[in-house]
Amino acid sequence: MADGLRDFAHGLPKAELHVHLEGTLEPELMFELAERNEIELPYRTVEAARKAYDFKDLRSFLDLYYTGCTVLVTEQDFYDLTWAYVTKAAMENIRHVEPFFDPQTHTDRGVPFGVAIAGILRALEDADEMFGVSFRLIMCFLRDQSIESAKHTLRTAHLYRSRIAGVGLDSAEAGFPPSLFEDIFRAAGEQGYHRVAHAGEEGPPRYISDALDLLHVERIDHGVRCLEDPALVKRLVAERVPLTVCPLSNLRLRVVETAADHPLRRLMEAGLVVTVNSDDPAYFGGYLTDNYIAMAEALGLGREDLVRLAKASFQASFLPEKRKAELIAEIDAYAEAHASS
Ligand code: HPA
Ligand code: ZN
Repeated sequence: MADGLRDFAHGLPKAELHVHLEGTLEPELMFELAERNEIELPYRTVEAARKAYDFKDLRSFLDLYYTGCTVLVTEQDFYDLTWAYVTKAAMENIRHVEPFFDPQTHTDRGVPFGVAIAGILRALEDADEMFGVSFRLIMCFLRDQSIESAKHTLRTAHLYRSRIAGVGLDSAEAGFPPSLFEDIFRAAGEQGYHRVAHAGEEGPPRYISDALDLLHVERIDHGVRCLEDPALVKRLVAERVPLTVCPLSNLRLRVVETAADHPLRRLMEAGLVVTVNSDDPAYFGGYLTDNYIAMAEALGLGREDLVRLAKASFQASFLPEKRKAELIAEIDAYAEAHASS
């Protein structure tokens, strides 16, 4: 890989639409917060934690992800977590983020919704002001928790309605179909939230069509298994439903065996609106640019492909059309300026 392509991807203006803030918790910060809050971790050292990040599937990852979350207790903890992510994002010229957080992971441990969201929003607002990284925050319901718990979360969220752009659906997918969440997504839609859902990561293509038909989502998170159903691909293309694809996540959770097996190029060739994202970068070995580069290296993507992916990231965002057009124009200017370098 020529360094030129890495530099190009690094400086390319882009958006990140699929990143779990709790999944940006690097082991160094995890240990610092564990000490601050006197919480015991199942690892002795940062190296031991990293070594444990050897996942065989989504469930085995989630177990460690939820363990990591136990160190997040105070508003300042959530600020530090979010700030560490957004400063990294700004450095790789991410201009806009639509991060997820999982309120139930915290309220279930007795950490109030208001504590988590206050720290997260303060850091996102500081990053917007200092670095010009805009944001739309999305709260996810945990699909392997009760509907009652999700409903309670939606009610609590109402206090922060103007600060939360959308709702999503994450955690263990197989066996927890979208249909379980039909009522709550309808209620969220009536309250004006944008709607997205993880589907077709480990779950079957049917979960993708159900997320569209029953949950009325505007984007599909992951969605890579759509390729198993040609009629579904046709529909996603026709309806221009964006997919937020996370290549290193798919690799580390063994959705694909090797980077060369990743379907990103096939998804692009099918005419889908595809974006690249990092999912849980502290656990999966790379941030956003690393994901672009991993795919460029494995699949032989060139600058024009990376430009298309970056444009799609703004196109698929919840930004106003005028702002999307400005950011897409910035990509064109950037590509032009780097045409011969
Ligand atoms: N998939 C599903 N749920 C999640 C993930 C993921 O990659 N990360 C955090 N919650
Ligand atoms: Zn995810």
